[in-house]
Amino acid sequence: MPHYRAVGELPRKRHIVFRRPDGGIYAEELMGEEGFSSDSSLLYHRNLPTAIVKSEPLPDPRAAESAEPNLPLAPRHFRTGDLPAGGDLVAGRRLLAGNGDVRLSFAAVDRPSELYRNSVGDETVYVQSGSIRLESSYGAIDAGAGDYVCVPTGTIHRWVPRGPVTALVIEASGHIRPPRRYLSQYGQFLEHAPYCERDLRAPAEPLLAEGAEADAPTPVVVRTRGGLTRMTFAHHPFDVVGWDGCLYPYALNIADFEPIVKKTHAPPPVHQTFEGPGFVVCSFCPRPLDFHPEAVPIPYNHHNVDSDEFMYYVGGDYAARKGSGIGIGSVSLHPAGFTHGPQPGAVEAALGAERTSETAVMVDTFRPLDLGPAARACEDPGYAWTWAR
Ligand SMILES: [Fe+2]
Repeated sequence: MPHYRAVGELPRKRHIVFRRPDGGIYAEELMGEEGFSSDSSLLYHRNLPTAIVKSEPLPDPRAAESAEPNLPLAPRHFRTGDLPAGGDLVAGRRLLAGNGDVRLSFAAVDRPSELYRNSVGDETVYVQSGSIRLESSYGAIDAGAGDYVCVPTGTIHRWVPRGPVTALVIEASGHIRPPRRYLSQYGQFLEHAPYCERDLRAPAEPLLAEGAEADAPTPVVVRTRGGLTRMTFAHHPFDVVGWDGCLYPYALNIADFEPIVKKTHAPPPVHQTFEGPGFVVCSFCPRPLDFHPEAVPIPYNHHNVDSDEFMYYVGGDYAARKGSGIGIGSVSLHPAGFTHGPQPGAVEAALGAERTSETAVMVDTFRPLDLGPAARACEDPGYAWTWAR
């Protein structure tokens, strides 16, 4: 994340003595990506961030999880509202689809998670409904419906819902960033970008464990490529009095995404919001439609030969899918190898329309998606044939 921020107490220069009120020295930690060659932040801890007292194996439920190829190849429709609710936003993820680059899970949760560190890649959580607080070493972010919350690799954090929350969880195998084409050479959002620095919300103040909790040994669940470890830190990891840099968790609300509109139909790259290794994330938002007098204001049939298209419908009315059974909370998967497009009659019905109320989050992957157990559990078996009715 290229936007510089500073939070809490900091010494005047990097890497100089910074004393605690008791005369001791704060422990400086550089958290950075790509081996000192990309974005980083400097964090100042009350205690050593290296002080661990225990490291134990933890059974990984994913070891027994079966994700199967999309065979026989077919477009799919999953009704996430049919999935069971409960649990927390880390352990309660239900895998819909995934590949070696990204995992796409649905979660309907109501309990706080354990402290967690994903060392495999960045996570972006799209909150569909409810209110939830991300607590992290960098501070807290309050999130609600429509927020994308981006958590950098390695950030120690936990999710604390206020009541029931539904969310789509995007777990990358690397870093999730704003599209490169929307950034200047030095990382500032350009004028044609559909969102900018002012739209991003990040922790505004330190989040410090206090009293007995601060000094108690504290377990953190750490995910690496090999699985899970329960690592116990000598002190609570929420002990950062200040940090600065360009790497931190942040939130972007989908309503702050400024849609780009053309005279005739604009393809999904205009909706792109983030990019990750092997995938992109796009936001379809309420907007005026194409304004050519003879425009067909919904998508043409398309076959993206290098992409699987995972679309999560979160609000409004998606005209191109009318009659397919898709509604709020639905996920459609239109894989490479299949041509998809508007439902029968949708083109005729859309002529003359001037606005759309749709809101949807799309993840296009560049390698095929396998289907997770949750997808099989909530599939609408008739969807593939809805164009032939
Ligand atoms: Fe599509």
